[in-house]
Amino acid sequence: MTLAAEDSTALMDGLVRQILRQFPELAEDEELLSLLREVPRERYADRYAVMGAPRFKSFDASPQQSKEVWSDAPLVLAYDNVGLPVSTISAPSIVLKFISLLDLQPGHHVTEIGSGCGWMAAMMARRVGTEGIVHGIEILPEVARAAAARQARIGPRNLVLHEGDFNDVLPGLPPQDRIVATAAFDRVPRVMLDALSPEGVLLLPVTMAHAVNASLMLNRSGQVMSQLPTLFVPASGVFSVAALLPDWRDATRLSHPGPRSETLSARIARLPDPGFGLRSFVAATEDTGFFTRRPDPATGKPTPGWAYGTTYPGGAVTITDRDGVLVQGSAEAASAELDRLIARWTAVLRPAPGDLSIRTGEPTADGTALSLTATVRTS
Ligand SMILES: C[S@@+](CC[C@H](N)C(=O)[O-])C[C@H]1O[C@@H](n2cnc3c(N)ncnc32)[C@H](O)[C@@H]1O
Repeated sequence: MTLAAEDSTALMDGLVRQILRQFPELAEDEELLSLLREVPRERYADRYAVMGAPRFKSFDASPQQSKEVWSDAPLVLAYDNVGLPVSTISAPSIVLKFISLLDLQPGHHVTEIGSGCGWMAAMMARRVGTEGIVHGIEILPEVARAAAARQARIGPRNLVLHEGDFNDVLPGLPPQDRIVATAAFDRVPRVMLDALSPEGVLLLPVTMAHAVNASLMLNRSGQVMSQLPTLFVPASGVFSVAALLPDWRDATRLSHPGPRSETLSARIARLPDPGFGLRSFVAATEDTGFFTRRPDPATGKPTPGWAYGTTYPGGAVTITDRDGVLVQGSAEAASAELDRLIARWTAVLRPAPGDLSIRTGEPTADGTALSLTATVRTS
Protein backbone atom coordinates (compact mmCIF):
# COMPACT_ATOMS: atom_id res chain seq x y z
CA MET A 1 0.00 0.00 0.00
CA THR A 2 1.22 3.50 -0.71
CA LEU A 3 0.06 6.87 0.55
CA ALA A 4 -1.68 9.66 -1.33
CA ALA A 5 0.88 12.26 -2.45
CA GLU A 6 -0.48 15.10 -0.27
CA ASP A 7 -0.57 12.86 2.84
CA SER A 8 2.95 11.70 2.28
CA THR A 9 4.21 15.28 1.84
CA ALA A 10 2.68 16.38 5.18
CA LEU A 11 4.04 13.32 6.96
CA MET A 12 7.45 13.76 5.39
CA ASP A 13 7.62 17.43 6.43
CA GLY A 14 6.71 16.45 9.99
CA LEU A 15 9.35 13.73 10.03
CA VAL A 16 12.05 16.05 8.72
CA ARG A 17 11.22 18.50 11.54
CA GLN A 18 11.61 15.69 14.11
CA ILE A 19 14.93 14.61 12.56
CA LEU A 20 16.33 18.13 12.54
CA ARG A 21 15.42 18.56 16.19
CA GLN A 22 17.79 15.64 16.89
CA PHE A 23 20.52 16.56 14.40
CA PRO A 24 20.11 20.18 13.15
CA GLU A 25 23.35 19.88 11.13
CA LEU A 26 21.63 17.50 8.68
CA ALA A 27 19.57 20.42 7.30
CA GLU A 28 22.59 21.36 5.17
CA ASP A 29 22.47 18.12 3.21
CA GLU A 30 19.31 18.26 1.09
CA GLU A 31 20.32 15.21 -0.93
CA LEU A 32 20.50 13.23 2.30
CA LEU A 33 17.03 14.34 3.42
CA SER A 34 15.60 13.55 0.00
CA LEU A 35 16.55 9.89 0.57
CA LEU A 36 13.48 9.72 2.81
CA ARG A 37 11.28 10.37 -0.21
CA GLU A 38 13.32 8.28 -2.66
CA VAL A 39 13.42 5.21 -0.39
CA PRO A 40 10.06 5.34 1.46
CA ARG A 41 10.15 3.73 4.88
CA GLU A 42 6.66 2.24 4.51
CA ARG A 43 7.93 -0.13 1.82
CA TYR A 44 10.37 -1.62 4.34
CA ALA A 45 8.16 -1.48 7.44
CA ASP A 46 5.50 -3.55 5.71
CA ARG A 47 5.27 -5.74 8.83
CA TYR A 48 6.21 -4.12 12.14
CA ALA A 49 5.29 -3.69 15.80
CA VAL A 50 5.40 -0.44 17.73
CA MET A 51 8.22 -0.66 20.31
CA GLY A 52 6.96 -2.55 23.37
CA ALA A 53 3.66 -3.66 21.75
CA PRO A 54 3.44 -7.40 21.13
CA ARG A 55 1.23 -7.29 18.02
CA PHE A 56 2.74 -7.11 14.53
CA LYS A 57 0.84 -5.12 11.89
CA SER A 58 0.87 -5.26 8.12
CA PHE A 59 1.13 -1.73 6.77
CA ASP A 60 -2.30 -0.66 5.48
CA ALA A 61 -1.68 3.06 4.81
CA SER A 62 -4.27 4.04 7.45
CA PRO A 63 -3.69 7.45 9.09
CA GLN A 64 -2.67 5.79 12.38
CA GLN A 65 -0.13 3.42 10.79
CA SER A 66 1.19 6.09 8.45
CA LYS A 67 1.87 8.28 11.47
CA GLU A 68 3.72 5.40 13.18
CA VAL A 69 5.84 4.61 10.14
CA TRP A 70 6.62 8.25 9.39
CA SER A 71 7.70 9.15 12.90
CA ASP A 72 11.22 9.35 14.24
CA ALA A 73 11.07 6.15 16.27
CA PRO A 74 12.45 2.64 15.77
CA LEU A 75 9.88 -0.04 14.86
CA VAL A 76 10.26 -3.66 15.86
CA LEU A 77 10.81 -6.35 13.21
CA ALA A 78 11.43 -9.22 15.67
CA TYR A 79 11.38 -9.88 19.42
CA ASP A 80 13.40 -12.54 21.21
CA ASN A 81 11.83 -15.21 23.41
CA VAL A 82 11.62 -12.89 26.44
CA GLY A 83 10.09 -10.02 24.52
CA LEU A 84 13.14 -7.82 23.94
CA PRO A 85 13.50 -6.35 20.44
CA VAL A 86 16.30 -8.08 18.52
CA SER A 87 15.64 -6.52 15.14
CA THR A 88 14.27 -3.07 14.43
CA ILE A 89 13.98 -0.67 11.57
CA SER A 90 16.01 2.11 13.15
CA ALA A 91 14.77 5.62 13.88
CA PRO A 92 15.06 7.75 10.72
CA SER A 93 17.21 10.38 12.49
CA ILE A 94 19.89 7.86 13.43
CA VAL A 95 19.82 6.25 9.97
CA LEU A 96 20.43 9.62 8.29
CA LYS A 97 23.03 10.65 10.88
CA PHE A 98 24.92 7.40 10.29
CA ILE A 99 24.81 7.83 6.52
CA SER A 100 26.07 11.39 6.94
CA LEU A 101 28.91 10.33 9.28
CA LEU A 102 30.01 7.67 6.81
CA ASP A 103 30.71 10.35 4.17
CA LEU A 104 29.79 7.96 1.36
CA GLN A 105 31.26 8.73 -2.06
CA PRO A 106 30.18 7.52 -5.50
CA GLY A 107 31.86 4.18 -6.19
CA HIS A 108 32.37 3.26 -2.53
CA HIS A 109 32.15 -0.36 -1.41
CA VAL A 110 30.07 -0.45 1.76
CA THR A 111 28.93 -3.21 4.10
CA GLU A 112 26.13 -2.95 6.63
CA ILE A 113 26.26 -5.51 9.45
CA GLY A 114 22.69 -6.06 10.63
CA SER A 115 20.87 -4.85 7.53
CA GLY A 116 17.46 -5.91 8.91
CA CYS A 117 14.73 -5.04 6.45
CA GLY A 118 17.25 -3.35 4.15
CA TRP A 119 16.04 0.26 4.49
CA MET A 120 19.33 1.88 5.44
CA ALA A 121 21.23 -0.36 3.01
CA ALA A 122 18.95 0.72 0.14
CA MET A 123 19.53 4.39 1.01
CA MET A 124 23.27 3.86 1.08
CA ALA A 125 23.11 2.08 -2.27
CA ARG A 126 21.57 5.26 -3.75
CA ARG A 127 24.25 7.37 -2.12
CA VAL A 128 27.19 5.39 -3.62
CA GLY A 129 25.64 5.39 -7.11
CA THR A 130 25.57 2.61 -9.65
CA GLU A 131 29.37 2.34 -9.73
CA GLY A 132 29.35 1.63 -5.97
CA ILE A 133 28.03 -1.44 -4.19
CA VAL A 134 26.45 -2.10 -0.78
CA HIS A 135 26.47 -5.48 0.97
CA GLY A 136 23.91 -6.08 3.72
CA ILE A 137 24.41 -8.92 6.21
CA GLU A 138 21.53 -10.08 8.43
CA ILE A 139 21.68 -12.94 10.89
CA LEU A 140 17.96 -13.55 11.59
CA PRO A 141 16.68 -15.87 8.84
CA GLU A 142 13.07 -14.60 8.80
CA VAL A 143 14.18 -10.97 8.64
CA ALA A 144 16.88 -11.70 6.04
CA ARG A 145 14.46 -13.64 3.84
CA ALA A 146 11.77 -10.94 3.92
CA ALA A 147 14.45 -8.41 2.94
CA ALA A 148 15.73 -10.63 0.12
CA ALA A 149 12.20 -11.03 -1.30
CA ARG A 150 11.71 -7.25 -1.19
CA GLN A 151 15.11 -6.71 -2.80
CA ALA A 152 14.19 -9.02 -5.67
CA ARG A 153 10.99 -6.98 -6.16
CA ILE A 154 12.16 -3.39 -5.80
CA GLY A 155 15.97 -3.42 -5.87
CA PRO A 156 18.22 -1.48 -5.93
CA ARG A 157 20.51 -3.57 -8.10
CA ASN A 158 23.74 -2.43 -6.46
CA LEU A 159 22.59 -3.87 -3.11
CA VAL A 160 23.62 -7.46 -2.33
CA LEU A 161 22.00 -9.09 0.69
CA HIS A 162 23.58 -11.96 2.63
CA GLU A 163 21.92 -14.13 5.28
CA GLY A 164 24.20 -15.13 8.18
CA ASP A 165 26.57 -13.96 10.88
CA PHE A 166 28.86 -11.12 9.72
CA ASN A 167 31.77 -13.13 11.10
CA ASP A 168 31.27 -15.74 8.38
CA VAL A 169 30.34 -13.40 5.53
CA LEU A 170 32.78 -10.50 5.92
CA PRO A 171 36.02 -12.42 5.21
CA GLY A 172 34.63 -13.38 1.78
CA LEU A 173 34.12 -9.76 0.65
CA PRO A 174 36.72 -7.56 -1.06
CA PRO A 175 38.19 -4.66 1.02
CA GLN A 176 35.43 -2.28 2.06
CA ASP A 177 35.63 1.53 2.10
CA ARG A 178 33.01 1.68 4.82
CA ILE A 179 31.63 -0.86 7.26
CA VAL A 180 28.71 0.09 9.48
CA ALA A 181 27.05 -2.06 12.11
CA THR A 182 23.57 -1.36 13.42
CA ALA A 183 23.66 -3.75 16.37
CA ALA A 184 25.79 -3.10 19.44
CA PHE A 185 28.99 -5.04 20.23
CA ASP A 186 31.04 -5.14 23.41
CA ARG A 187 34.35 -5.19 21.57
CA VAL A 188 35.68 -4.33 18.12
CA PRO A 189 35.84 -7.66 16.29
CA ARG A 190 39.19 -7.99 14.50
CA VAL A 191 37.42 -9.38 11.42
CA MET A 192 35.65 -6.02 10.95
CA LEU A 193 38.89 -4.01 10.95
CA ASP A 194 40.61 -6.56 8.68
CA ALA A 195 37.81 -6.20 6.11
CA LEU A 196 38.47 -2.47 5.65
CA SER A 197 40.47 -0.97 2.79
CA PRO A 198 43.61 0.94 3.91
CA GLU A 199 41.68 4.23 4.20
CA GLY A 200 38.47 2.50 5.27
CA VAL A 201 36.29 3.51 8.19
CA LEU A 202 34.24 1.40 10.60
CA LEU A 203 31.18 2.85 12.33
CA LEU A 204 30.34 0.58 15.24
CA PRO A 205 27.79 0.83 18.06
CA VAL A 206 29.28 -0.56 21.25
CA THR A 207 27.71 -1.41 24.54
CA MET A 208 29.47 -2.48 27.67
CA ALA A 209 26.80 -2.28 30.30
CA HIS A 210 23.61 -1.84 28.33
CA ALA A 211 23.33 1.51 30.06
CA VAL A 212 26.42 2.80 28.25
CA ASN A 213 25.96 2.82 24.51
CA ALA A 214 27.88 4.78 21.92
CA SER A 215 28.79 4.53 18.26
CA LEU A 216 32.48 4.76 17.47
CA MET A 217 34.15 5.81 14.19
CA LEU A 218 37.35 3.77 13.90
CA ASN A 219 40.13 3.60 11.33
CA ARG A 220 41.73 0.35 10.17
CA SER A 221 44.16 0.37 13.09
CA GLY A 222 41.28 0.45 15.53
CA GLN A 223 41.79 4.05 16.63
CA VAL A 224 38.64 5.86 17.69
CA MET A 225 38.23 9.03 15.62
CA SER A 226 34.93 10.18 17.10
CA GLN A 227 31.96 8.89 19.10
CA LEU A 228 28.26 9.61 19.27
CA PRO A 229 25.80 8.53 22.01
CA THR A 230 23.32 6.03 20.52
CA LEU A 231 21.19 3.08 21.56
CA PHE A 232 21.09 -0.09 19.48
CA VAL A 233 19.85 -3.63 19.96
CA PRO A 234 22.67 -5.92 21.14
CA ALA A 235 24.37 -8.07 18.49
CA SER A 236 23.68 -11.78 18.26
CA GLY A 237 25.87 -14.53 16.84
CA VAL A 238 29.40 -15.47 17.82
CA PHE A 239 30.19 -11.94 19.01
CA SER A 240 26.99 -11.51 20.99
CA VAL A 241 27.36 -10.40 24.56
CA ALA A 242 25.67 -13.60 25.70
CA ALA A 243 28.22 -15.74 23.83
CA LEU A 244 31.14 -13.85 25.38
CA LEU A 245 29.87 -13.74 28.95
CA PRO A 246 30.86 -16.40 31.39
CA ASP A 247 28.16 -18.88 32.21
CA TRP A 248 25.83 -16.84 34.36
CA ARG A 249 23.64 -19.72 35.40
CA ASP A 250 25.20 -18.94 38.77
CA ALA A 251 23.71 -15.47 38.55
CA THR A 252 20.32 -17.04 37.93
CA ARG A 253 20.64 -18.88 41.19
CA LEU A 254 21.19 -15.59 42.95
CA SER A 255 17.53 -14.75 42.70
CA HIS A 256 16.53 -17.73 44.80
CA PRO A 257 17.34 -17.01 48.41
CA GLY A 258 18.93 -20.14 49.74
CA PRO A 259 21.86 -21.23 51.84
CA ARG A 260 24.38 -19.55 49.53
CA SER A 261 22.53 -16.35 48.70
CA GLU A 262 20.89 -13.52 50.53
CA THR A 263 19.15 -10.27 49.64
CA LEU A 264 20.68 -7.07 50.93
CA SER A 265 18.05 -4.68 49.59
CA ALA A 266 18.01 -2.62 52.78
CA ARG A 267 21.56 -1.51 52.17
CA ILE A 268 21.09 -0.10 48.72
CA ALA A 269 17.98 1.77 49.83
CA ARG A 270 20.34 3.94 51.87
CA LEU A 271 22.19 5.10 48.77
CA PRO A 272 21.60 8.75 47.88
CA ASP A 273 21.42 7.90 44.16
CA PRO A 274 19.96 4.43 44.17
CA GLY A 275 21.28 2.16 41.56
CA PHE A 276 21.69 3.47 38.08
CA GLY A 277 24.99 5.35 38.23
CA LEU A 278 26.53 2.79 40.56
CA ARG A 279 25.35 -0.11 38.40
CA SER A 280 26.91 1.28 35.25
CA PHE A 281 30.08 2.23 37.06
CA VAL A 282 30.50 -1.26 38.49
CA ALA A 283 29.84 -3.04 35.22
CA ALA A 284 32.07 -0.61 33.33
CA THR A 285 35.08 -0.27 35.56
CA GLU A 286 35.42 -3.42 37.66
CA ASP A 287 37.77 -5.97 36.12
CA THR A 288 35.29 -8.65 36.99
CA GLY A 289 32.22 -6.51 36.26
CA PHE A 290 29.37 -8.21 34.46
CA PHE A 291 25.86 -7.61 33.35
CA THR A 292 23.24 -10.20 32.84
CA ARG A 293 19.51 -10.45 32.37
CA ARG A 294 17.64 -10.39 35.62
CA PRO A 295 15.95 -13.74 36.18
CA ASP A 296 12.30 -13.92 37.14
CA PRO A 297 12.26 -15.37 40.69
CA ALA A 298 9.12 -17.39 39.91
CA THR A 299 10.33 -19.13 36.78
CA GLY A 300 14.09 -18.61 36.85
CA LYS A 301 13.88 -17.45 33.20
CA PRO A 302 15.61 -14.23 32.14
CA THR A 303 13.22 -11.27 31.97
CA PRO A 304 13.55 -7.95 30.15
CA GLY A 305 15.74 -5.94 32.50
CA TRP A 306 19.34 -6.07 33.47
CA ALA A 307 21.41 -6.71 36.54
CA TYR A 308 24.95 -5.45 36.99
CA GLY A 309 27.55 -6.72 39.34
CA THR A 310 31.01 -7.85 40.14
CA THR A 311 32.61 -10.99 41.45
CA TYR A 312 35.11 -11.27 44.29
CA PRO A 313 36.88 -14.26 45.73
CA GLY A 314 34.16 -16.48 47.09
CA GLY A 315 31.09 -14.62 45.86
CA ALA A 316 29.31 -12.06 43.70
CA VAL A 317 27.35 -8.87 44.27
CA THR A 318 24.61 -8.15 41.74
CA ILE A 319 22.83 -4.80 41.74
CA THR A 320 19.52 -5.32 39.99
CA ASP A 321 17.66 -2.74 37.95
CA ARG A 322 15.05 -2.60 40.69
CA ASP A 323 17.81 -1.38 43.01
CA GLY A 324 17.94 -4.50 45.06
CA VAL A 325 21.23 -6.20 45.80
CA LEU A 326 21.65 -9.93 45.44
CA VAL A 327 24.68 -11.62 46.87
CA GLN A 328 26.31 -14.96 46.52
CA GLY A 329 28.68 -16.04 49.24
CA SER A 330 28.62 -14.73 52.78
CA ALA A 331 26.51 -11.65 53.50
CA GLU A 332 29.36 -10.18 55.52
CA ALA A 333 31.92 -10.45 52.71
CA ALA A 334 29.37 -9.14 50.21
CA SER A 335 28.60 -6.21 52.45
CA ALA A 336 32.31 -5.32 52.62
CA GLU A 337 32.54 -5.64 48.83
CA LEU A 338 29.54 -3.37 48.38
CA ASP A 339 31.12 -0.80 50.71
CA ARG A 340 34.29 -0.91 48.60
CA LEU A 341 32.31 -0.39 45.36
CA ILE A 342 30.30 2.48 46.78
CA ALA A 343 33.46 4.11 48.16
CA ARG A 344 35.18 3.89 44.74
CA TRP A 345 32.13 5.30 43.01
CA THR A 346 31.80 8.10 45.56
CA ALA A 347 35.52 8.92 45.27
CA VAL A 348 35.06 9.74 41.60
CA LEU A 349 31.99 11.84 42.43
CA ARG A 350 29.33 9.29 41.56
CA PRO A 351 29.49 9.31 37.77
CA ALA A 352 26.32 8.70 35.78
CA PRO A 353 26.46 6.54 32.61
CA GLY A 354 26.98 9.70 30.54
CA ASP A 355 30.24 10.40 32.40
CA LEU A 356 31.79 7.18 31.16
CA SER A 357 33.88 7.37 28.03
CA ILE A 358 34.87 4.47 25.84
CA ARG A 359 38.44 3.77 24.73
CA THR A 360 40.06 1.03 22.71
CA GLY A 361 42.78 -1.10 24.21
CA GLU A 362 45.38 -3.42 22.74
CA PRO A 363 44.34 -5.54 19.76
CA THR A 364 43.93 -9.21 20.63
CA ALA A 365 43.53 -12.28 18.46
CA ASP A 366 39.75 -11.97 18.17
CA GLY A 367 39.24 -8.27 18.53
CA THR A 368 40.23 -4.99 20.07
CA ALA A 369 39.23 -4.76 23.70
CA LEU A 370 37.14 -1.81 24.76
CA SER A 371 37.47 -0.16 28.09
CA LEU A 372 35.25 2.32 29.81
CA THR A 373 36.68 5.09 31.88
CA ALA A 374 34.77 7.12 34.41
CA THR A 375 35.49 10.82 34.11
CA VAL A 376 35.76 12.65 37.39
CA ARG A 377 33.29 15.51 37.47
CA THR A 378 34.82 18.78 38.57
CA SER A 379 31.71 20.91 38.81
C1 LIG B 1 18.75 -2.23 14.49
S1 LIG B 1 18.51 -3.64 13.49
C2 LIG B 1 18.82 -3.12 11.80
C3 LIG B 1 18.24 -1.83 11.32
C4 LIG B 1 18.48 -1.57 9.88
N1 LIG B 1 19.82 -1.13 9.69
C5 LIG B 1 17.53 -0.53 9.30
O1 LIG B 1 17.63 -0.24 8.16
O2 LIG B 1 16.68 -0.02 9.99
C6 LIG B 1 19.99 -4.59 13.81
C7 LIG B 1 20.06 -5.90 13.09
O3 LIG B 1 21.34 -6.50 13.34
C8 LIG B 1 21.15 -7.91 13.22
N2 LIG B 1 22.34 -8.60 13.78
C9 LIG B 1 22.65 -8.74 15.10
N3 LIG B 1 23.79 -9.45 15.23
C10 LIG B 1 24.22 -9.75 13.97
C11 LIG B 1 25.35 -10.47 13.45
N4 LIG B 1 26.24 -11.05 14.28
N5 LIG B 1 25.49 -10.58 12.09
C12 LIG B 1 24.56 -10.02 11.26
N6 LIG B 1 23.46 -9.35 11.71
C13 LIG B 1 23.29 -9.20 13.03
C14 LIG B 1 19.86 -8.12 13.98
O4 LIG B 1 19.26 -9.37 13.68
C15 LIG B 1 19.03 -6.92 13.53
O5 LIG B 1 18.18 -7.22 12.45
